[in-house]
Formats: sequence, C-alpha cells, structure tokens
Amino acid sequence: MRVIVAASGGVAALKTPSLLRRLAGAGHEVRAAATDDALHFVTKLSLAVAAGGEVFDRAAWFRPDGEARHLSWARWADVLVVAPATADALSSAATARADDVISALIVAGTPRVVWVPAMNTAMWHHPLVQENVRTLRAVGHHVLEPADGLLAAKGEGSGVGRMPEPEEIALHLAGLLGPRDLAGRRVLVSAGPTREPLDPVRYLSNPSSGKMGFAVAEAARDRGAGVTLVTGPVTLADPVGIATVRVERAEEMLAALSAHFDATDLVVMSAAVADWQAAEIASEKKAKGGERQTLELVRTPDILLTLAPRKRQQVVVGFAMETHQGVERAADKARRKQLDFILLNYPTREGSAFGGDDNQVTFVTPEGRVDELPRMSKRAVAEQILDRALGIWASRAEHAE
Ligand code: C5P
Repeated sequence: MRVIVAASGGVAALKTPSLLRRLAGAGHEVRAAATDDALHFVTKLSLAVAAGGEVFDRAAWFRPDGEARHLSWARWADVLVVAPATADALSSAATARADDVISALIVAGTPRVVWVPAMNTAMWHHPLVQENVRTLRAVGHHVLEPADGLLAAKGEGSGVGRMPEPEEIALHLAGLLGPRDLAGRRVLVSAGPTREPLDPVRYLSNPSSGKMGFAVAEAARDRGAGVTLVTGPVTLADPVGIATVRVERAEEMLAALSAHFDATDLVVMSAAVADWQAAEIASEKKAKGGERQTLELVRTPDILLTLAPRKRQQVVVGFAMETHQGVERAADKARRKQLDFILLNYPTREGSAFGGDDNQVTFVTPEGRVDELPRMSKRAVAEQILDRALGIWASRAEHAE
C-alpha cells in the first residue's frame, strides 16, 4: 500500500516519524507531508529520515520542472493518513480550502483518507468540530476516535483528545486497509528463546529476539485472525490485540501451547527452544569452586513432537536453523515432526542472524520441495507463511470436494 502520512500542527506531530517507521516496517511504501505549523513541532529532517524521502511541505509544493506535488502525490497514494489532525486541519478539509498541503491533497483526489484527531477535549467535543467530522465521514473519510489520556498543553490534565500511540494507529490502519483473509481463523505462535535454570541465578538460553514470531503474530492479527502468542523471555512488549502468554522454560512453553493446540487452525513454532536443561536445578547458587565444572544435562521436551499425535485440522509450521546440509535436515525435521512446511535459515548468512529485522529463509516441505526466498523483512516472511497456510487450506478444500 502507498501511504502518505501528513502531520498538522499539534504537539503529537512528534510521534509522526514513529508512525511512518511502523507503517514502513509493516511493508507499506510511505511518504511524509507536513503543514507549516506541524514543522514547529517536528523537524522536516526527522520526517524525511523516517519516510526515506523528501517531505511535501509548502516549500516543496511546486517544483521547477512544473510538477505540482498535491496532484502528483494524490495520484501516487492509495491512502492519506493525517496524524495528528488538528481541529483546523479537519475544518480546512471539510470546507475544501486547499490552501495547505493536507486539504490540497484531499481536494486533488487522494482516494482514501484516514484522520487521527489530536486536540483538547473541549475542542474535540465542540459542535462545529463534530459537524466537520460528520461532513468528512459523509464523503467516505475514516475519522478515528481520539484516545482518553494525558493532554499536552500546560494545565489541561487528562481527557479525550490525545492522539493514539503509533502502534494503535498502525493497528487501526491494518484493520481498515489490509486483506482480512484470516478472519475466523485461530493462530497459535511461539516466539523467543526458552530459559532453562541451572540454579537460582544462572540459566541456559540462546540469543533469539522473538522478532520473527512477533511478526507472524502481528501479521495474522492484521489479517483478521484470533491470535495467541506464547513467548519466552524477550524485551518486546505485548502486541496490542494479541493474547500473549509469557513463559520461561521449554516445559512451560509446551504446557501453554498444548492448552491451545486443539482449537487452533495454524501453529507457527518459531521459538528457539533450548535443547538441554539441568538434570537437577540447584536450589542454591553453586559456588565457583575449582577450574572445571561438570553439568549434567537432560533433553528438554520436543514440543512439536509431543503435539504431533494430536494434529487434526492444524497447519503446522516449524523453523530449522542449520549450518550445513540444510535442506536434507530441514525436510527430515518436517517429516518427523509432521509439519506442513518448515522454514530453513542459516545463522551464518548475512541477513539471517539472531535479533535482526530481516531474514533470509528457504521454505522446505516434508517431500523435500524447496523454495528459496531473497532476504526480506521478518514481517514480509510472516506474510509469506500466512499466504502458504491459506494455500494449503484452499487445496484441502479442493480435495474434499
Ligand atoms: O531444534 P530443531 O532444529 O529441532 O527445531 C525445529 C523446530 O522444532 C522449530 O520449529 C522449533 O521451534 C521446534 N522445537 C520444538 N521443541 C524443541 C526444540 C525445537 O518444538 N525442544
């Protein structure tokens, strides 16, 4: 989707770059626009950096080559998001003034418009502002409700009028603009590492960031699925609109996934489960003592193997991180663990390392069919997983006929 994010002149314009980055991260092409007043609150440079390109403001309106930005950008865009939207911006658009970049883009014919109002409570509730909101809705614009919270101006305290956080706005937009092809489906995702304690202060783990699993959970949510995310210890916050269960050990992850498995349509097991746990967890911190230490370890439960016998309607997806013989090993894992497909990646390759925002994966089926994808964002990989799950459901439906 091609999205113009336009800021008008409120304190919340500070959050506009963060919204731009979120939308770009969700796979949209983004551009930034700003009114003169917006540029008192956010710099043109921070908007340009977040958008990855030139900002449309009054100074960049008409170009020496004859291009008129409001016309060319309105033709380019699928949607214009005004965030923050002041009472003044709503009024200019409702009366088709076209004397600022936002109302000009609208009058020039931007196909869809989403407003994210941010203003003082009394202003938002004023009948004239509400009349403008009705006018805009009547011509098909989406006007989001402002949040209830702390207001920026001195001495104003809290109330309705605060701009929702960029994460909330991105969520609304996804619901509004994206395909809803997973509506009615239940998706279960695991993410992050597990942490296996050795004693009260030490543990075995790995550097999984959880980003891949969180991206799958968020993409599924945005496409309309009901999502449960079971995650090991990661620094990422619980995503909005997703039932998030936090666990530490492999055994706890198994228990949490097992509780949801039977009622799930799609299981994506992206967690990097620790393979070993202490045979006995010391109840007190072990002293350093000596130059060598022997630890007795036992295997953690294999979660996918444990759940495999209960597989019915579920499409089950795993991950395999291999350093060599990737395809053979991945296909073997897919067969043993009864997976519909597995994503193979190589930790040593550029763009596949733990913790990054990108991934380079190869889809492998139990039969050994291979589809190697280029490096892309984890969100884009997540969309690929969901597309393939939809493909499997479609072919099952075909065979059932
Ligand atoms: O560790 P391995 O290469 O076998 O991982 C393949 C898949 O199995 C991954 O999806 C991983 O999340 C899952 N797994 C599991 N339980 C384990 C280890 C891995 O479900 N104990």
